[in-house]
Amino acid sequence: MKFRITILCENSVGPISGTLGEHGFSALIEPAQGDPLLFDTGQGLTLLHNARRMNRDLSKIGRVVLSHGHYDHCGGLLPLLQENGPKRVYGHPALFRARHRIKDTGECWPIGIPHTRQELESAGADFDLSDEFREIAPQIYLSGEVPRATVFETGDQGLYCDCTGQEVDATPDDQSLVLETDKGLVIIVGCCHAGLVNTMEHVAYSLGRRDIYAVIGGTHLGFCGQEQFDMTVSALKCWGVQKIAAGHCTGFAASARLSREMPKEFQVALVGFTLEV
Ligand SMILES: [Fe+2]
Ligand SMILES: [Fe+2]
Repeated sequence: MKFRITILCENSVGPISGTLGEHGFSALIEPAQGDPLLFDTGQGLTLLHNARRMNRDLSKIGRVVLSHGHYDHCGGLLPLLQENGPKRVYGHPALFRARHRIKDTGECWPIGIPHTRQELESAGADFDLSDEFREIAPQIYLSGEVPRATVFETGDQGLYCDCTGQEVDATPDDQSLVLETDKGLVIIVGCCHAGLVNTMEHVAYSLGRRDIYAVIGGTHLGFCGQEQFDMTVSALKCWGVQKIAAGHCTGFAASARLSREMPKEFQVALVGFTLEV
């Protein structure tokens, strides 16, 4: 099937007049047949505004997928529901876990979903939570929990369930969206805390095919060490991934390195980036 993918929320903006950036991610997925679907919602500061600026009608969205329970992916759900009515919302059972980032200085910041499940349900969210790989619409899949199989994808430092630092939050709820397109699989990643190679391997294992055409979204390569970066680039080349539209937690330095390593495949996925595939 053919799809149009549009980045609605991202840290930086492209040339579409009046669009705004925020630290966050949201992508609109419009299949050739069936209702559009929203993958992540940003913080809630720019989603509705940017969609209007880009003439994208969010009232037609049938489903919302939350990649994981961080504020910069889930904060836009409440304003979306308030403006556009009830939606079925897909995620992982650990979505509402309390989460914090403890900085080296000892400062502790809450980074979980900024609204309670009850608030969201009152506004029209119908949650469908599962850790399994599943098809949520024709030729659209949700990865479910991604096994942490590679040794070089070591996960984030500084993420904990509370400010005591006793319980590490390994972000088990991190999951990605997979589209079966005419050109191959397209994987849309929110923050990819699970690791890009772990995610690709899990998707390939689950669908029994390894033809990944494109990876779009937050790769988290801005938070990893040299070994993980090098191994990930090797994997992307080895798998023959033809498009890498990276943004959000990829960051400027890792984007520059990706651009140098894979100049034909790499693009920056700013607000307004659109891929028709
Ligand atoms: Fe993020
Ligand atoms: Fe995150």
